[in-house]
Amino acid sequence: MRIAMIGTGYVGLVSGACFSEFGVDVVCVDKDADKIAMLDKGRMPIFEPGLEDLVRKNVEAGRLKFTTELGDAVRGADAVFIAVGTPSRRGDGHADLSYVYAAAAEIAEAVDGYTVVVTKSTVPVGTGREVERIIAETRADADVDVVSNPEFLREGSAIEDFMRPDRVVIGTRSGRAQEVMKALYRPLYLIETPIVFTSRQTSELIKYAANTFLATKITFINEIADLCEVVDADVQDVAKGIGLDGRIGGKFLHAGPGYGGSCFPKDTLALVRTAAEVGRPLRIVETVVDINAKRKPQMAEKVIEACDGNVDGKTVAILGVTFKPNTDDMRDSPSLDIVDKLKRAGAEIRAYDPEGMDEARDMMNGVTWCADAYDAMTGADAVVIITEWNEFRALDLEKAKSVLKAPVMIDLRNVYNPDDMAAAGFRYSCIGRSTVPPGPAE
Ligand code: UDX
Repeated sequence: MRIAMIGTGYVGLVSGACFSEFGVDVVCVDKDADKIAMLDKGRMPIFEPGLEDLVRKNVEAGRLKFTTELGDAVRGADAVFIAVGTPSRRGDGHADLSYVYAAAAEIAEAVDGYTVVVTKSTVPVGTGREVERIIAETRADADVDVVSNPEFLREGSAIEDFMRPDRVVIGTRSGRAQEVMKALYRPLYLIETPIVFTSRQTSELIKYAANTFLATKITFINEIADLCEVVDADVQDVAKGIGLDGRIGGKFLHAGPGYGGSCFPKDTLALVRTAAEVGRPLRIVETVVDINAKRKPQMAEKVIEACDGNVDGKTVAILGVTFKPNTDDMRDSPSLDIVDKLKRAGAEIRAYDPEGMDEARDMMNGVTWCADAYDAMTGADAVVIITEWNEFRALDLEKAKSVLKAPVMIDLRNVYNPDDMAAAGFRYSCIGRSTVPPGPAE
């Protein structure tokens, strides 16, 4: 089988590489000639564990190619995947579909023979219908079915998520298109992955509903964490205690500085807009969006409080700036709001991140970028863990104390244990856990 993958962003590149690993001939297309040249040299435009090796292996096997020529890639393909960006439109939060529609028109010009056109980009309900309309308008004789097939990849574990997904969702009522999609996902059939066949608009909504539900789960536990701090309870035990209930499930109950990344902030907002527009407002999601947006700067207040209410003229060390570990992605990272607010309160910032500093440099001015965690902590009045990279999980606390000006740690990911930190001589604050050492029996 042969497919074309339009767009070599996160979704397109990972999906294209993984399909080629399944044995499919894949041509990845991007308008950005520099990016294609880079990929041709075996260099990855994003940091994703395992991706470079997977790409190299399949390029060498002749199953994976890169090009700027959309027409060449589309002609003769069994399926063409649209995996271009759908950023939040400036001003109103709607998903910007201009890249999707432009790709649809270009695909229509080039298709020959029966072709399945698959939207992998996250697109609002009804987009498939519009893609179909654009194709028909551009080429009345085009023999295509337009299918929705959302991706659920998490950055940092995207390859594993593609190869062993919880499920695959395929939105089409066309039996012919279903057969093509089944053939493409055959290796997943063999490992008994649940495949949900449904209508196109249901499939489009499933993607938004999934991300919105997860964002709601995180926001719920974040609010419970705030309550824990006041009533002297432990949010991690609460998460465990409720997560063991099979109806709730333990995942995505890790309290932190608020969700970020390329999907949750954008998708929650887009769903809120869609629902309001059709007169069925999603009030829970509206509240989630609002709480999460306020939570990120609130984390800076937590830091200021830990620094005796004032950071003016003080130095704060920041460990981790990406929105989560194992990625270099800075989009909507809580660190952006936190650092901005700390700087405006007069703090000097020394920061270190294993992969995100190149991205972050342009987005955060006036930050001193450091060689490692200890370099960042040198001479600082407090250290803040914003992203839970593995290398911050086992810091040498004695060494940290010796380079810090004051042993103050604000751990926004609950990486450390409050009792251990107290024993190590740190003034330690975290999220939703009592930091007062337990006293005699209550
Ligand atoms: C997400 C979805 O998980 C994926 O299915 C979808 O296709 C794309 O969006 P991703 O954005 O890569 O993936 O990261 P994810 O691991 O879901 O984390 C998103 C944000 O939530 C991060 O900022 C993370 O720190 C935060 N988070 C996650 C929490 O604060 N607590 C948790 O328990 C889980």
